[in-house]
Amino acid sequence: MTIDLISKTTVASTQAGRKWDKTAAGWDKHTPEIRNWLRVTTDAMIEMAAIRPGDTVLDLAAGAGDQTLDIARKVGEKGSVVASDISPGILEHAFANAVAAGHQNVRIHCADAEHIGLAEATFDAAVSRLGLMFLPDPLQGLCEIVRVLKPGGRFCSVVFAGPDANPCLRILMSSAMRHAGIAPSDPFRPGGLVSLGKPGLIDALFSKAGFHGVATTRIDAPFHLPATKDYMAFIRDAAGPILQILAPLSARAQADAWAGITAQLEIYQTESGWIGPNTLLLTTGQR
Ligand SMILES: C[S@@+](CC[C@H](N)C(=O)[O-])C[C@H]1O[C@@H](n2cnc3c(N)ncnc32)[C@H](O)[C@@H]1O
Repeated sequence: MTIDLISKTTVASTQAGRKWDKTAAGWDKHTPEIRNWLRVTTDAMIEMAAIRPGDTVLDLAAGAGDQTLDIARKVGEKGSVVASDISPGILEHAFANAVAAGHQNVRIHCADAEHIGLAEATFDAAVSRLGLMFLPDPLQGLCEIVRVLKPGGRFCSVVFAGPDANPCLRILMSSAMRHAGIAPSDPFRPGGLVSLGKPGLIDALFSKAGFHGVATTRIDAPFHLPATKDYMAFIRDAAGPILQILAPLSARAQADAWAGITAQLEIYQTESGWIGPNTLLLTTGQR
């Protein structure tokens, strides 16, 4: 088994990379729940990016590589997939997961998505699952994706729709900010969880970056778990943006905040388990 580490340490010392490193193990640990949650979405994303056997694919903000492995299976031995992320820590998990799955066609690349650092016209297709909205300058990231795609290559991204369609995220953010004494701010500010959920925004950015045939599909992706405590375990291990807001608080204040958030999220407990509403936007475009 050989996995080519293209440039593993490029951004190892950046602040943004270190920030995401903190939740790397948590995101990897909850891969089974994330996989169930995003099963239909991931299949749709791979289909909308028109990924075929033999393709060379870029997976941007790949995290622990759950969707990377699906792509590795889809492209087969004659194709390959580059798992790229800003966090060296999470790429350690992507690397280990690719090795464990026995894929020889996965390569690991550590880079900021706004400066991918790979050659122009390299990829037949590209995807990004729940990553693009975290970029401070998503247009710059999209321009980079256009640059590294071959002419005719397709990109599909998955991002959260707006706060009204994602009430769990709205509760998490507003509650965490209130406990931290932070004044409410524009939910669509760049880099935020639902920043690309503003109606029409992501299509406009794709077009501005140079993509053709841009289209967005909304998908309902409710999070099914046995109980509220299971969602809270996922959030407390893996939800970097919420953890960052609460980090400056004392242990006591953090415990109060978590108790308050849990109480609000109990409204999604049903007789058949905890069902948290979630709406995602799948956007596709062609270079
Ligand atoms: C919510 S996780 C999603 C991971 C994976 N795509 C998935 O769906 O399981 C977000 C990922 O975006 C990465 N990320 C955040 N900002 C980034 C940036 N500027 N460039 C590249 N990756 C970034 C984080 O390190 C993290 O792995």
